[in-house]
Amino acid sequence: MRKENIILTGFMGCGKSSVGFKLSYYLRRTLLDTDKWIEKKQGMSISEIFDRCGESAFRQMETDCLKELLQTEDHQIIATGGGLPIREENHKLLKQLGCVYYLKVTPEVVYERLKGDTTRPLLQGDNPMEKIESLLKVREPVYEQCADYVIEVSGKTFEEILEEIASKERMAER
Ligand code: S3P
Repeated sequence: MRKENIILTGFMGCGKSSVGFKLSYYLRRTLLDTDKWIEKKQGMSISEIFDRCGESAFRQMETDCLKELLQTEDHQIIATGGGLPIREENHKLLKQLGCVYYLKVTPEVVYERLKGDTTRPLLQGDNPMEKIESLLKVREPVYEQCADYVIEVSGKTFEEILEEIASKERMAER
């Protein structure tokens, strides 16, 4: 049976963690962040995991995380790492975990929010905008395919985004 978590997906910088944080107060649910869950379990930051273990090991950790959450968690808000939906094996796990909201953002907004950020290994280097655009081009159709709902977040206030998600949840309860 499908669980009743609320799952937030989307590109780095789309606001999954901050929307998740506010939504957890708004809906009185606990927030779980897959990156933080992995960092705690590994005792390393995401950058250290990429450095020492490589990206593919990190992707396996994300899948292991979803499998464990399926056994342990329900009625939570789950904020996922930006690359998590890209692994096909994770699609079914996400669907089983609950209702998936894709927070859709433009490359320009991502760039503005994350310029100077040093915690995202995939955006380091000389031309972060080029990386954002090329990753988004590949990922966008996958995010959409995996989502129950697409929420456009660029140019919206937190209140508008929260209300959009909450109203869809209310409709689902009926
Ligand atoms: C990644 C996104 C990051 C983190 C890791 C890889 C990605 O999470 O999981 O750096 O592949 O898009 P956020 O989306 O929370 O930044």
